[in-house]
Amino acid sequence: MEENKKVEKELSRRQFFKELGYMAGGAMLLSMPWLRSQTPEKLEEVKGDKARVALIGCGSRGQYHLHNLKLIPHAEVVALCDDYEPNLKAAAALCPNARTYSDYQKLLEDKDVDGVIIATPLNWHAPMVLDALAAGKHTFCEKAMARTMSECRAIYEAYKRTDKALYFCMQRMYDEKYIKGMERIHSGLIGDIVGMRCHWFRNADWRREVPSPELERRINWRLYRESSGGLMTELACHQLEVCNWAMGRMPETIVGLGDIVFWKDGREVYDNVNVIYRYADGVKINYESLISNKYNGMEDQILGHKGTVDMTKGIYYMEDDNQIPGIRQLLREGQEKTLGAIPTAGPSWRSETRKAYVPHSLVNGAVSVNSGQSTVGADNDGSDVILSAFCQSCLTGEKAESVVEEAYCSTLLCLLGNQAMEEARIIKFPEEYKIPYMKF
Ligand SMILES: NC(=O)c1ccc[n+]([C@@H]2O[C@H](COP(=O)([O-])OP(=O)(O)OC[C@H]3O[C@@H](n4cnc5c(N)ncnc54)[C@H](O)[C@@H]3O)[C@@H](O)[C@H]2O)c1
Repeated sequence: MEENKKVEKELSRRQFFKELGYMAGGAMLLSMPWLRSQTPEKLEEVKGDKARVALIGCGSRGQYHLHNLKLIPHAEVVALCDDYEPNLKAAAALCPNARTYSDYQKLLEDKDVDGVIIATPLNWHAPMVLDALAAGKHTFCEKAMARTMSECRAIYEAYKRTDKALYFCMQRMYDEKYIKGMERIHSGLIGDIVGMRCHWFRNADWRREVPSPELERRINWRLYRESSGGLMTELACHQLEVCNWAMGRMPETIVGLGDIVFWKDGREVYDNVNVIYRYADGVKINYESLISNKYNGMEDQILGHKGTVDMTKGIYYMEDDNQIPGIRQLLREGQEKTLGAIPTAGPSWRSETRKAYVPHSLVNGAVSVNSGQSTVGADNDGSDVILSAFCQSCLTGEKAESVVEEAYCSTLLCLLGNQAMEEARIIKFPEEYKIPYMKF
């Protein structure tokens, strides 16, 4: 059964890379250079080999990665590390042949490990990434890059010095619908980008059950500032990367308001954020997230003067499809008896709604749409593809271009968003955190 799934997964990954192959030679990859190491030919090179990888942090996301790793033919999980025994045991049950460690430093001394996958709380990312690179391991770390801006800078400097591959799990960069959407956007489909609207709405408290009170801050690390950047680093991080990818540059001004509106349970991070990021030409990202109402779901909308791409659904809409003037729309709806009663006074038509837009698909065949409700990760959202790319890098030594830079840029924007909300002021992107990759 597992073997069938493995073959099926591998075939779909190969098909995905094959489709990307036509882009690989083209100019399109200028805006997604990380895919250059993902051509079908390069995947062919690692056939039969297995990267010996280890997982540090065997919690929910770590175990999700283990399930994906088991379906990657060029990967073998040889070691596991967690300092919380129940999670280490659960992971060991998934990979019974892997060596187990409770101290990650000891795991890094293991000579039979080529690459490490880090899925620990945010405050552990920087120390673990820096130690793993220093130990000569190829390294894959969960997003966001780190908890503070200075830690991000230290990682970026270490990355510049190392000859090892370093990835951060920004899976949208490897998600087919995002890749195809960006290809269209950069070919001019929706004209000039005039704005971006990203939101993530959930209705869940983010709390996990704690077996004894002294474990509260450990297990519920997402809720405390010492270990988490809250909604910004947990959710916005992915979406802000998409905006920068679309724009090919960075916003320079940030303003926002954050509050704890509903989950007043002792947590320290906001459960309700609104942040505006402004690019030099006035284009803005409107970012909104709250976790006490899920009506709006999750969307990454790129708005152009000719159309809109809704990346999360793999759909685009053209402005021309909706050119019926308001009064004609009202009459037509009346004729079609779609309106129960036509009001005689006041605003009586809905010309400004998106009701009449025609959806066009970005991807052939079925699109896997992420509801945004899973806290672990959604199927087919690119997570398995980026992990496969990492395992490939462990074997070839080839780095994926720009993944670290993209993670650095989006993490910095998350942390600056938090700073803008905490200080309730307009923040300018700080000079000392600019890197050559950034255009403003
Ligand atoms: N890319 C995505 O879409 C996505 C989705 C979910 C989570 N994540 C990220 O994955 C990471 C982990 O999240 P999670 O929900 O799995 O958290 P989790 O609490 O379920 O798991 C974290 C694990 O790390 C272990 N750990 C903590 N400190 C450790 C240490 N010093 N040494 C060894 N192990 C240690 C914990 O015991 C726990 O088992 C976070 O950075 C999170 O943001 C990313």
